[in-house]
Amino acid sequence: MGIIIKDALAVLPVNGEDVIGKHSIYIDGDKIVGIDNEPEGFKADTTIDGKDRLVIPGLINAHTHTYMSMMRNCADDLSFMDWLFKTIDPIEGQLRDEDAYWGSLLGQLEMIKSGTTMFNDQQMHIHQTTKAVMESGMRASICRGLVGGEYDRNDVRLNQALEEIEDGKKCDRLSFFFGPHAPYTCGPEYLRMCADVAKEKGLGIHIHLSESVTESENMMKDHNCTPIEYALNAGVFDVPTIAAHCVQVTPDDIKILADKKVSVVTNPASNMKLGNGFAPVPEMMAAGVNVCLGTDGAASNNSQNMFREMGYLSLIHKGTHKTPQCISAKEVFKIATINGAKALGKGDEIGSIEVGKKADLAILRLDVPSMMPNNNLLAALCYSASGSEVDSVIINGQIIMEKREVKTIDEERVYFEIREMCKRLGLADKTY
Ligand code: NI
Repeated sequence: MGIIIKDALAVLPVNGEDVIGKHSIYIDGDKIVGIDNEPEGFKADTTIDGKDRLVIPGLINAHTHTYMSMMRNCADDLSFMDWLFKTIDPIEGQLRDEDAYWGSLLGQLEMIKSGTTMFNDQQMHIHQTTKAVMESGMRASICRGLVGGEYDRNDVRLNQALEEIEDGKKCDRLSFFFGPHAPYTCGPEYLRMCADVAKEKGLGIHIHLSESVTESENMMKDHNCTPIEYALNAGVFDVPTIAAHCVQVTPDDIKILADKKVSVVTNPASNMKLGNGFAPVPEMMAAGVNVCLGTDGAASNNSQNMFREMGYLSLIHKGTHKTPQCISAKEVFKIATINGAKALGKGDEIGSIEVGKKADLAILRLDVPSMMPNNNLLAALCYSASGSEVDSVIINGQIIMEKREVKTIDEERVYFEIREMCKRLGLADKTY
């Protein structure tokens, strides 16, 4: 199917810098086949008028747990450990497998409507999530959450993960990482086993690291090292690693992350909401760490909206560092796009608008109050947009949302199923 987006403003990389100019973008099949130059023999089935429109590479949510979307606003204003072990874990224990399917679809709806085209998901229900991704048309990296203590190649979850990965290979929008949950739920030998199997299978690892003060204090008490050193010693960083959070990191930790080329996903809203603090993002960037951006799950954020996350990312560091130069709108936009693509091993395929890359795009309205006047649009994306400006979304060359109507997901059905589920799980507010 051929699509032209005609005469729109678009964010394109020029010598490594994002530059906004007026362009026409030609899409054929799943790829961008031309920018301004119409390829020979190109036939358009669909023409999108670019007047008052801004085309951006789809945002990449590099750390979330989509199935937890039904837990939005049900565990708030709690300490991290009470949030996790006293509230979230008991709800997780009651989830039926199909609940994860509806939860993931709800998370994906929210992401599509706010311009995200790929997400990196850690969860326990791979089949349900892969089914939801196959239907929604999104691109996703799926990571089976793993917890354990011993070096055990017969570990049930590990082998389930391997089977699920085989099964998911039939969809080219799906990719897979191993997801050992965190140092406080995975013993060193178990982590080493995950790293060994990941290396054998050519997979990366997606892990939570150094999220809270309690985690770091307990690690020092029990193992006399930081969570980053613990993961290093277990061999985790010998495979491509995406480390979520990295809030409580020392200067030595930052050096390890840079040396081992670990990609760090910062999750500013989740870290602030759980009272965990701020990751030292400017310092990690200065050390050469590939920093990308994630929402974390709706149980802790409580949103899946990457525009909100971009805003927080820039503002908290300007505020806490008391200098507005420590992170720019350009850097934030890269963190939310190409850096996420690189972390997920897809830097050559997605994350920017270039000929030959996959057509994963979000088209925003500029004729709305939040984007008017159209002065510095990169600043507008970071500081002014809320996500509601996203009008249409194309993923893998398919129009997934057109004029805010998501074509692949039955929204009403998702809302119905989520409401019923929340009643069953006792999460729904009984006063209305
Ligand atoms: Ni998380």
